[in-house]
Amino acid sequence: MRINFSDDQDEVRVPEEAIKLLKQGLQAVAKLHKLSAKTEVSVSLVNDEVIHVLNKDYRGIDRPTDVLSFALDEAEEPVEIGGPETHLLGDIIISAETAVRQGKEYGHGLNRELVYLGVHSLLHLLGYDHMNQNDKAVMREEEEKALQMLHLSQADLDKAAGKTDPEHFAATVVDSASGKQTAKTAKSKKQKENSAEIKKSIKPKQDKTDKRKEPKKGAGTMSQNDKKADKTIKKLFKNALKTRENAYVPFSKFKVGAAVLTKSGDIYTGCNVENSSFGLTVCAERVAMFNAAAAGVRPGEITMLLVAADTEDVTSPCGACRQVMAEFEIPVIVMANVRGDMRKVSLEELLPFSFKAADFA
Ligand code: THU
Repeated sequence: MRINFSDDQDEVRVPEEAIKLLKQGLQAVAKLHKLSAKTEVSVSLVNDEVIHVLNKDYRGIDRPTDVLSFALDEAEEPVEIGGPETHLLGDIIISAETAVRQGKEYGHGLNRELVYLGVHSLLHLLGYDHMNQNDKAVMREEEEKALQMLHLSQADLDKAAGKTDPEHFAATVVDSASGKQTAKTAKSKKQKENSAEIKKSIKPKQDKTDKRKEPKKGAGTMSQNDKKADKTIKKLFKNALKTRENAYVPFSKFKVGAAVLTKSGDIYTGCNVENSSFGLTVCAERVAMFNAAAAGVRPGEITMLLVAADTEDVTSPCGACRQVMAEFEIPVIVMANVRGDMRKVSLEELLPFSFKAADFA
């Protein structure tokens, strides 16, 4: 694979050794995925300011981040660039400043952090993502495989740190069926922050024509229905994040976005709207449900609601919104955060023994 590397920032002096390792990490992914020598990827190191602007413009998230992946849309791909056989994967943008900070924070240093971010981002360009528990585990496993080739996997780091039982494949934090952490998959707070913070992408790309790049393997294959459900959740997530930007939050400064999906496939969104008389504030979820109601949607017609905010763990709806969800009989609720961590629960799990019209009718 060809790597077009450029260091486009002056804030951090990135050692040659780190850049070499970053490239080796990317080549390890290329090797594992049998990418041809004609495959090309661009990698650019920028500062926090630049990545902040990109994060805001493309993801609507107003702060710097560590890495962004820009998959090249096939439709937009100019055929003549690099010759007809060249396969341009896209761009990887890494903030060197954030990489230094995170390397320190996680205690493994800049070199390993840069390699991790590069590997993670390249996997996104190959179609991997972490929108659900299964995908997350598969992606984590792929990361580990590549990092192992450089002796920089989590298992290697744990071993070096003298840990006897490294939980190096513990990407799955939440058991979505029970909503509980399991002993086998529970991670330390720091590890959780790590995985939550560094997994982001824009336009994750899936090359449907190339079976080698089919990422769904290892941790169970997905059925067609699962894939469809995944796509739907992604769409709701995107819509919720977009509307979240309109949140009117002069008091809490805490923006929330929500989206509901109807049986007929329509999506209605909402954001929180605050008021000087605090009690009049309305949550994003209720705005989304009421928007749907105002368009004529009735109880039993909403199949899913997704809520997302900038929370460390996933965003959990308040009691009042749960009661309204019960009114609209929404069977599935996806709690998310802006980084894409998600937990899918049933209404029954969120609000057992709920008060319903049938109780007084
Ligand atoms: N908020 C929501 O929009 N949804 C929830 O489920 C919890 C809270 C909003 C209301 C208020 O504007 C801000 O978050 C802080 O409570």
